[in-house]
Amino acid sequence: MRILIAGSSSTIARAIGRQLKAQGEEVFTLSREGSKESEHLCTDLSVEDNIPHIEDFIKNVHPDVIFCCNGLLHNDGGYPEKSLKQLSDAWLQQNLNVNLLCHMHLARAADSLVSRKHPLRWISLSAMVGSIEDNHLGGWYSYRISKAALNMFIRTLSIEWGRRSPASVVVAQHPGTTVSALSEPFAEGIPEGRIYSAEQTAERLIEVMRSLNQTHHGRLLHWDGRILPF
Ligand SMILES: NC(=O)c1ccc[n+]([C@@H]2O[C@H](COP(=O)([O-])OP(=O)(O)OC[C@H]3O[C@@H](n4cnc5c(N)ncnc54)[C@H](OP(=O)(O)O)[C@@H]3O)[C@@H](O)[C@H]2O)c1
Repeated sequence: MRILIAGSSSTIARAIGRQLKAQGEEVFTLSREGSKESEHLCTDLSVEDNIPHIEDFIKNVHPDVIFCCNGLLHNDGGYPEKSLKQLSDAWLQQNLNVNLLCHMHLARAADSLVSRKHPLRWISLSAMVGSIEDNHLGGWYSYRISKAALNMFIRTLSIEWGRRSPASVVVAQHPGTTVSALSEPFAEGIPEGRIYSAEQTAERLIEVMRSLNQTHHGRLLHWDGRILPF
C-alpha cells in the first residue's frame, strides 16, 4: 500500500510511519519540517495557497491511505481555556487553522485523486473532546469547537467522496490519550493506564486502518475502532 502521512513530525505520526515501514508499506510524508526528498513534501498545510503544490505531490504519490495528524491544543502563545473569560478570537482562529483547515486543505489537494477506480481510506486524527454528545466537563472551548468542526467536515466529505467513490472510507478518529508534546502539560492528571505510548497508539490506529469498511464511513471512531457519538 502507498500511505501518505500529513503532520508527519507529530509524535503519533512518526510512530505510525515507523511501524508502516517495518510492515513493508510505502510511506510518504508531509510536514512543515524536513528536507526535500522524493517521498517527503516540506510545506505548511495551514496555508491555502499551498494547495496546488500539495496536489501535485499527491498526484505523484497516488496514495491508497491518507492519515492527517495535524492538531493543536497549546503552543507558546496559547493554552486551552478553562472559562469564557479566557477565550480570544485569535486563539480560536489558530485552533481552527490547524485542527480544521489543515485537514480541509489536504482533502482539497487529494480531491481529484478520489474516483470509483481509485478508492481512498482517509483518517483524520480528531479527539473525543470534539464530541458534542460526550462533553460533560466543559472547558477547552477552542480545541473542542475546532475538533467538532473537523468532525462535521469529515461527515460532509464522506458523503461527497462516497457518492463518487463508493469503496472509499472517510473517518475521524480519536487516537487515545498518548504521550506527546500535545498531551504533556496534562499528563500528570491522567490516571495510570489511561495514557498510552505513541507506539501503542500507532499499532492500534494501523490495525483499525486495515479493517476499515463501510460501517465506519463518515463516523468518529475510538482508537479501538468503536463508533463514538458525534
Ligand atoms: N496526544 C494525544 O493525547 C491526543 C489525544 C487526542 C487527539 N490527538 C490528536 O492526534 C493528532 C496528533 O497528536 P500528537 O500528540 O502526535 O501531536 P503533536 O506531536 O503535538 O503534533 C501535532 C502536529 O500538528 C501540526 N501542527 C501544529 N501546529 C501547526 C501549525 N501552526 N500549522 C500546521 N501544522 C501544525 C504539526 O505538523 P508538522 O509540524 O509536521 O507540519 C505537528 O506535528 C492531533 O490531531 C491531536 O489533536 C492527540
